[in-house]
Amino acid sequence: MTDNFGRNIDYIRISITDRCNLRCVYCMPEEGVESVAHNDILKFDEILRICRVLAKNGLKKVKITGGEPLVRRGAANLIKQIKDIDGIESVTITTNGVLLTEQYHNLVGAGADSITVSLDTLDREKYAQLTRRDEIGRVLKGIALAQKENKVRLKINVVPVYGLDEKEIVSMVNFAKDTDTDVRFIEVMPIGSGTDFETVTEDDIKKVIEKHFGKLTFYSEKRGNGPSVHYSLEGFKGKIGFISAVSHKFCDSCNRVRLTADGHLKTCLQFEAGTDLKPCLRGGGTDADLEAELLKGIANKPKSHRFDEKDYFENREIRNMSQIGG
Ligand code: GTP
Ligand code: 5AD
Ligand code: SF4
Repeated sequence: MTDNFGRNIDYIRISITDRCNLRCVYCMPEEGVESVAHNDILKFDEILRICRVLAKNGLKKVKITGGEPLVRRGAANLIKQIKDIDGIESVTITTNGVLLTEQYHNLVGAGADSITVSLDTLDREKYAQLTRRDEIGRVLKGIALAQKENKVRLKINVVPVYGLDEKEIVSMVNFAKDTDTDVRFIEVMPIGSGTDFETVTEDDIKKVIEKHFGKLTFYSEKRGNGPSVHYSLEGFKGKIGFISAVSHKFCDSCNRVRLTADGHLKTCLQFEAGTDLKPCLRGGGTDADLEAELLKGIANKPKSHRFDEKDYFENREIRNMSQIGG
């Protein structure tokens, strides 16, 4: 599938729920957001139908996100069913890890190609402040299990919203030392509640890492399906990644679209524009109708984000990441 700027789109991020068992400050307000009504959330059969139609047109990679995807019953089974579709090469999941211990073996059994856990700090109090829940113990237990079992590639996402804290960066990097776990530092993007935070830049984090661990060497082999750029550190089994949508814009090579939990095809993270697929899905549309809507939406994908233009408001996404799937 190609968009009007010639980009090949073969990756979809599917948010299977807008609900979450945490309340990260850069992602959701304290009181949460009003959840989409149960009936407006796509059923797994509807998600599978969209995946089948897209796979016929070149979709290869699927990311399952939320909210928190593991709060939706049957998430692992959905992964298995998507993996069974002809043409799909990889299905991955990004989770906050609170339910990972309970779900790890189901995800392995389903054939998940990677599990990414979001963990922004190792300090229990700071974690409770950042996520507004005291759940770090369960997350660390899940990560330890995934590292011990080592049956699926594990990645850790770190959004350092509390500023440049050397001690934190060093502890996070150490997750990549003894097992093949990738640690990826993410610049906070000015979307929804993220607008209230200053980002820590890739260059500043790199300086801290090199001071403590030596030279970061660019690693050119593929590690995932997303925008992360990877580096090796001598003596480390995992890689260090950077996802820097603000300081190192990657829109020219964007390969993805999104499906929100309530059935909108969302073609760029920053813009509210999208196609509501529910009328077609639930109003008797044929697969050919659905395909036409999807291809038209994809063709019209915006050229790039405009994070650097603070006064730019037209069509700007005002929902939180929990509602759009990150
Ligand atoms: P893998 O490396 O294959 O696991 O994929 P990924 O890195 O895209 O997945 P993940 O869900 O871990 O997302 C990591 C970060 O990248 C999150 O902060 C996402 O919001 C961000 N991200 C993913 N895709 C895009 C994108 O197309 N544009 C922007 N601006 N950010 C993105
Ligand atoms: N900027 C950057 N990353 C974000 N995430 C959520 N909100 C933002 C934001 N405003 C991250 C989460 C998770 C991933 C899916 O997106 O921390 O790791
Ligand atoms: Fe793609 Fe939009 Fe993200 Fe840029 S901001 S990489 S165009 S989804």
